[in-house]
Amino acid sequence: MPGSSTTLVIPDNTDVPRHLAIIMDGNGRWATSRFLPRTAGHVRGVQAVRRVVEACGRHGIKYLTLFAFSSENWRRPAEEVSLLMRLFIQTLEKEVNKLDKRGARLRIVGDLSAFEPGLQKLIREAEARTAHNSALVLTIAANYGGRWDILQAMRRLLEDRPDLAQNPADLNEAALAPYLSMSYAPEPDLFIRTGGEQRISNFLIWQLAYTELYFSPDYWPDFGTAQIDAAIDWYKARERRFGRTSAQLAAKN
Ligand code: IPE
Ligand code: IPE
Ligand code: MG
Repeated sequence: MPGSSTTLVIPDNTDVPRHLAIIMDGNGRWATSRFLPRTAGHVRGVQAVRRVVEACGRHGIKYLTLFAFSSENWRRPAEEVSLLMRLFIQTLEKEVNKLDKRGARLRIVGDLSAFEPGLQKLIREAEARTAHNSALVLTIAANYGGRWDILQAMRRLLEDRPDLAQNPADLNEAALAPYLSMSYAPEPDLFIRTGGEQRISNFLIWQLAYTELYFSPDYWPDFGTAQIDAAIDWYKARERRFGRTSAQLAAKN
């Protein structure tokens, strides 16, 4: 049920996450610990992206969302921001063919208006090129912020439904949900953050309401097949109660 809310409808429990969302963190520290420039960590991180895409295919995960650049990452040194933009462009140019062959649909979410026109065009082309695919929906969050998402959704909802400003009691989750930038996907079942920090950093704050949160100490470039499999095994052992009790779940099964 794409877009449906875990606080309104209890999703079916599946062994494998339908939607995996990842904060790919630790590139800079990976590089620094090797006396390399931080940017070398970002370059190396692309390989980990390939590994996780491959793992999704193997596990039958249908939606993969990767946080590539946050709305706060503009605060970084200009050289690092520009390397990240170049890497984004190069990776799009290089990987779109392969993703297409895998049957992956690429979607980019975030405030894309901040990107240079050439990159915006590349993004639109990559999305159009893979729009017919459905084996995996790969979403890249770029210049994304969870608060931005909620605000843009609210603005667009009020444009379509000006009556709501007069009758705020009519405003509900179901009305807002279609305007959130990932309304095409179910909410994430499993969230992974690499790099040891245990925070959300303004990622999908609305959509993570009932997501299982997994934190790995490994830096993103070191996150390989074994680590991905361990996270999925951990997920399979969770009891997702969605507000109910364990006894209720046992009675249902
Ligand atoms: C994540 O790695 C990549 C981006 C934010 C683009 P970092 O660059 O945040 O790496 P650390 O956290 O400084 O090690
Ligand atoms: C979050 O990582 C953003 C991405 C991975 C793209 P950061 O490294 O920017 O997060 P904070 O600022 O340390 O929380
Ligand atoms: Mg970081």
